[in-house]
Amino acid sequence: MIKHFLALSSFSQSDLLSLIHRAHSFSINIKHPDKIQQLLSSKIVANVFYEPSTRTRCSFEIAAKRLGAEVINFVPENSSVKKGETVYDTLKSLESLGVEGIILRHSDDHIIDEIKPYLKIPLINAGAGKHEHPSQGLLDILTLYQEFGKLEGLKVAVCGDIKHSRVAGSLMVAAKIFGIKLYLCGPEILLPDIESDHIQKANFDEILPEVDAVMMLRIQLERHETLELDSSSYHHQFGMNHKRQLKMKKEGIILHPGPFNRGIEISDEMVEHPQSRIFKQMSNGVFARMAILEWTMKEELK
Ligand code: CP
Repeated sequence: MIKHFLALSSFSQSDLLSLIHRAHSFSINIKHPDKIQQLLSSKIVANVFYEPSTRTRCSFEIAAKRLGAEVINFVPENSSVKKGETVYDTLKSLESLGVEGIILRHSDDHIIDEIKPYLKIPLINAGAGKHEHPSQGLLDILTLYQEFGKLEGLKVAVCGDIKHSRVAGSLMVAAKIFGIKLYLCGPEILLPDIESDHIQKANFDEILPEVDAVMMLRIQLERHETLELDSSSYHHQFGMNHKRQLKMKKEGIILHPGPFNRGIEISDEMVEHPQSRIFKQMSNGVFARMAILEWTMKEELK
């Protein structure tokens, strides 16, 4: 059976915990290369990114290389996409050429469902549309798990453009699976109409002293047709800064999936603040993606 990694919603709690433990063990063993088996030696995976990316694309490439795979970085702008080739034809062509796993980023919410039935190799969602970014979700819960040693009962405030954020989409799924309480904060027009036992809207300043972590999100201007943003006023109302950090618990942590807009949703000093785990998230991106690549491709290993 082909194992695709498309959405956290298709995983059980125990399967996700296995991936977290595997990613954590990669994070410990990374300093000892002899302890990391070249599980994907001689495999070829393709990074196929129709949208820009720094962290996800590079960390998948590094993760694949750490496991011994070779990586093709397919660039749509320099390809037959410019001659009108569809996503389906592009991926089937890569499969026919011998690529053994595809890591896909695309803006279309439905692209994964349309293509999946026709692929005979694992497909990994590297952020498609605005619903889920499951590898980011995995690295985010890995970061929380490493920090607090548990997930159930944690309280996390998410602040920003939640309506258009696939990072928030995957975090909401993970929150339900693990019993994390999420507080959605930000301008009302950027909040989704979702409330449940484990998700509720909250006033950012009021909830800060209660939470274990805050996940700051950037305004996804590329997904808005019309949005007037006054950066300074937004930062004053919803930005993470020294004044707000002082309201947090001393052991509370600051997260951001990146890329961040310094001075808008987060101040310069907060990115590198001792309570920030933003760069830890980025490092964890490699380990989470090693676990994902191993999980999706291990059935192919004899
Ligand atoms: N967090 C994230 O997905 O970053 P990139 O867009 O740089 O991959």
